[in-house]
Order: sequence, then C-alpha cells, then structure tokens
Amino acid sequence: MATNRTFTMLKPDSLEKGNTGAILEKINAAGFKIVAMKQTRMSKAEAKAFYAVHSERPFFGELVLYMTRGPIVAAILEKENAVEDFRTLIGATNPDEAAEGTIRKLYAASIGENAVHGSDSDENAAIEGSFHFSGREIF
Ligand code: CMP
Repeated sequence: MATNRTFTMLKPDSLEKGNTGAILEKINAAGFKIVAMKQTRMSKAEAKAFYAVHSERPFFGELVLYMTRGPIVAAILEKENAVEDFRTLIGATNPDEAAEGTIRKLYAASIGENAVHGSDSDENAAIEGSFHFSGREIF
C-alpha cells in the first residue's frame, strides 16, 4: 500500500549552483509538505552506506565522491502518493531523458550529477528518511 511520505536530497551540484530555493519552490508548488529538512554533509562512510545497493556498480566511486564533495539538503516530504508523484516531479535519472519542466530537466547536468534524489519505494523512503533524521526532527 502506498504511504504518504518520500525522502529527497538536493545534491551538492544543486547547492553549488545556488538552485536550492528554486527546487524547494517547485516541490512546494507541486503540493508536497516538508515534514523534515536539514542542510548537512555526508562523510564517505555515510555515502557508501546510503548507496550500498549500488556498491558493485562501475560508477560507485564517482557517486561517493560526488555526494560527499559538499553539503546537501535532506528532506522528508508528505503528500498523497508521495513516492510516485515525486519521481514524476523530478523526472528520469538521466536528464537527457527527463520530461520538460521536471527538476532534473531544469537543473541536472548529467546522469551522474542529477541534482536531486527521490526514493524509489515506500520501503526505501522510510529507510532513507531514518538514515538522516531522528524521530524528533520529523514534524
Ligand atoms: P539516484 O537515483 O539518486 O541514486 C543513484 C545515483 O547514482 C543516481 O541518482 C545518480 O546520481 C548515480 N548514477 C546512476 N546511474 C549512473 C551512471 N550510469 N553513471 C554515473 N552515475 C550514475
């Protein structure tokens, strides 16, 4: 059954380019409520743990370097059908394949540096949200 929460990160390239406000505005405009949010920076060990599912992929080392090179904004978002609707809002992993008007089409540089993360399932949304937030940081 679909839950009403998903997890996102605005990745280091989004913060470096000054796109935080514009991306949060799109998230708000699409009807998501921010129930937790912080600016933080992952250590290499944390990024390896967060992306453990990709550890055998050829791009894993590059992904860990990218995700740890600067701060991110992590957030838990609430909306009916949150996981699916947020993935529609951000667009395909590869910005070349992302639909017009999606966050990745507007702000991502490449399949690797793709501006934002969105959980791919309700189960992963819960795991990823708990990775970054304690219960008392979620409202
Ligand atoms: P995301 O979907 O948030 O989670 C996995 C990340 O790995 C993905 O975003 C990209 O940042 C990165 N990624 C996925 N596919 C590739 C690829 N082919 N080459 C480099 N990085 C990738």
